[in-house]
Amino acid sequence: MTYTSILTSKQDLYAIVQFNRPDVLNAINITLMKELVDALEHFDTDDEVRAIIVTGNEKAFAAGADIKEMANASAMEMLLRDQFARWDRIRKIKKPIIAAVSGFALGGGCELAMTCDIIIASESARFGQPEISIGVMPGAGGTQRLTRAVGKAKAMEMVLTGRMISGEEAMRWGLVNKVVPVEYYLEEAKTLAKEIASKPPVAVRLAKEAVLKAFDTTIEGGLEFERKNFYLLFASEDQKEGMKAFVEKRKAEWKGK
Ligand code: HXC
Repeated sequence: MTYTSILTSKQDLYAIVQFNRPDVLNAINITLMKELVDALEHFDTDDEVRAIIVTGNEKAFAAGADIKEMANASAMEMLLRDQFARWDRIRKIKKPIIAAVSGFALGGGCELAMTCDIIIASESARFGQPEISIGVMPGAGGTQRLTRAVGKAKAMEMVLTGRMISGEEAMRWGLVNKVVPVEYYLEEAKTLAKEIASKPPVAVRLAKEAVLKAFDTTIEGGLEFERKNFYLLFASEDQKEGMKAFVEKRKAEWKGK
């Protein structure tokens, strides 16, 4: 697939997907979403990639869904577009996804960052769910993921007022992992991607799956799931190699199986 709204690259066992609609602050239209999902699914099956960074530019991660594309749509058109089916496919990506966020991460942009596994923000990052100010509400997970990340009180405040919060506040509230000066946010995400890429890939995959399970199961179901993944890793060559290397005081060499 030839991309028009994103740029992709690969280096050192990780891949980068960068939104490329700078004139509209990376507003997420149908094409951008199609391309994003296509690229993520492609990298998810690429053995040379062990972590994926999703980013925008310094001014905007993404300022939300493309308002012009949906302004005149009817409810039926929105339903039949079934755009959220694509969002659901992001949840199925097995490799870790790091959002490197600078500037605006609003509406669908904030939701997209929260769909990723880890968020690195720049000091100029602004997170928000401003949909209320244009007559709608979050539709791509904002009311659910934001509430789980920051709790009911803060989520209510953000969703009902549409107010933006800074990267620093987002970190204090538990929405992002780290905030760094603008010139370093992408570097920081790359460092993290490299660190994760240096770990045994099957263990990373099953560990990510188990953490995500915590969002849609009971504690009992989650613990059972975790235990099964834990046992399953003893069937991997990497478990044998990892523990043997520890005992022999040497660096492990991962096979990814
Ligand atoms: C379409 C957008 C856009 C958007 C910005 N632009 N956000 N176009 N959809 N979401 C366009 C503007 O129209 C403008 O194009 C250009 O980007 C620059 O934006 P300005 O407004 O001139 O920039 P600035 O004054 O710096 O203000 C930045 C801003 C503001 C505060 C981020 O643009 C803004 O409020 N944007 C909308 C944010 C929003 O409501 N997001 C939620 C969308 S709904 P022109 O052609 O005029 O230069 C949503 C629902 C998700 O996300 C549901 C799931 C998919």
